[in-house]
Amino acid sequence: MSPEEDLPALLPRPLRLRRGAGAPARLADGMTIAHDPSFGAVARWFRRELEAATGWDVRTAEAAGAEAVLELRRRAPACAAEAPERAAGEAYELVVGDGRAVVTAAEPAGAFYGLQTLRQLLPGDAYRKAPPGGRTGEMLLGAVAVEDAPRFSWRGVHLDVGRHFMPKGFVMKLIDLAAMHKCNVLHLHLTEDQGWRVPVAKYPRLIEVGAWRRESPVGHADDGVFDGTPHGGFYSREDLGEIVAFAAERHVTVLPEVDMPGHMVAAIAAYPELGNTGEPVEVLTEWGISEHVLNLEESTIQFCRDVIDEVAELFPGSYFHVGGDECPTKEWEASPRAAALMAEHGLISERQLQGWFTARMAEHLESRGRRLVGWDEILEGGAPPGALVMSWRGEQGGIEAATAGHDVVMCPLQWLYLDWAYADDPAEPVAICPATSVERVWSYEPVPDAIPAGQRHHVLGTQCQLWTEYVPTPERAEYMYFPRLSAFAEMAWSRRSGAGFSEFEGRLRAHLARLSALGVNYRPLEGPTPGQARTWKGRPMEQVTPPREGPPAGEP
Ligand code: ACM
Repeated sequence: MSPEEDLPALLPRPLRLRRGAGAPARLADGMTIAHDPSFGAVARWFRRELEAATGWDVRTAEAAGAEAVLELRRRAPACAAEAPERAAGEAYELVVGDGRAVVTAAEPAGAFYGLQTLRQLLPGDAYRKAPPGGRTGEMLLGAVAVEDAPRFSWRGVHLDVGRHFMPKGFVMKLIDLAAMHKCNVLHLHLTEDQGWRVPVAKYPRLIEVGAWRRESPVGHADDGVFDGTPHGGFYSREDLGEIVAFAAERHVTVLPEVDMPGHMVAAIAAYPELGNTGEPVEVLTEWGISEHVLNLEESTIQFCRDVIDEVAELFPGSYFHVGGDECPTKEWEASPRAAALMAEHGLISERQLQGWFTARMAEHLESRGRRLVGWDEILEGGAPPGALVMSWRGEQGGIEAATAGHDVVMCPLQWLYLDWAYADDPAEPVAICPATSVERVWSYEPVPDAIPAGQRHHVLGTQCQLWTEYVPTPERAEYMYFPRLSAFAEMAWSRRSGAGFSEFEGRLRAHLARLSALGVNYRPLEGPTPGQARTWKGRPMEQVTPPREGPPAGEP
């Protein structure tokens, strides 16, 4: 309960929440979840979670039964009209009273979110994998009425598994946590200079060579210290199939990214003919931006198409991310073959050459029924029509893209890069740079005023990023995500209320009990625990490579 209002501490905050009337619902061993036939998978997911946490037997039944203590009903709730059109199915109502709990939604996603909210009405122990004190007795749900619908249809969580490979178990834990926070996209950054993580049958060396690097930096990139220890790993096709199915059950779409034509050193190490110099290179062992990029000859374009085809087969969503960020043109400038390509296609700059390449990828994806997603650099070469732009270097890319009619996801690094330290404090673990507080993430407004009113619907939503140069383990990843991801979720799902950060912080404190029950290595609001704290020299922004713009002075 939040102390001020004696209302449950729901996070993200729903559209409307009131105390209800009538008797509480009694959840207990032997209880039944009655559900519309189309909500069977959602009911079974909840049954499994509840059975694990309590030790109960829970039944599911396709019926509208007045005897069932919990019912999932199929009907469009009135509040669906308050969601963006493509997210109407995520809206739900939850009414507890008269001894029963009823979730009403038009689609399984809405029923799923209704149950996520219902779970937040239970004690934190409802998030455990087994009951701590033997089988749980009954749990009472007090009467409430919740009407809820998301503000944005794209509520994304990004994870870079290229810089540091993250085991499958962690990816699935993150999906579970994202879904608990009503986030619906996991963006997996699968390929990097420092490691390639997805198998492609036609090019086996991508994994044999590209998945492993000789060593990794210790401390900050420019300390010049290395650990001498090989690092790497990759997911099998079956692992990825499992991840995608696990995500789908939780209404999360996994967006794959194969970053091209820059950030491709691992692929060039595996297949030197993809590069511009003919010289062998190794999978990159340092952080930063490499000058080694793909050549853009027909054989390389065919390589990219083949990779897209095999990777797209593993990820059924309608979007495919081809990166496009941070691609130096130095090698193309020195390459007679690149000059010949430019002349052949009437291109007058190397940036246009990249734009031409991106357009080829967009055409290919379109022929496969997919839409291209790229980082905001794709605007510089003229983004292909229909491309979705992720605005990361700030808001300008998103403003330009939406104004020009592209769909946009706002990911600006100054607010939503969770690889930044929480505070400019030596107690924090080493990070790319200071500092993004929980409040800073919470304060972000994804629809910039500079987008003309008629184009604002192109902002599909927002996404938080975790790049992993300085995130070597799942434990550290949890530290960097949480509780900033909780603040992100509130911003991405909920409308702004006038209540301010302290009201959110009150609910967040209660929410931390749920994260504790789930075994999340979150950073306490007061600062790192002794076990989490590290001695970091702290590094002024100017010393960070590449230079990154910080939050304006005086802002949270
Ligand atoms: C990025 O941070 N290079 C998208």
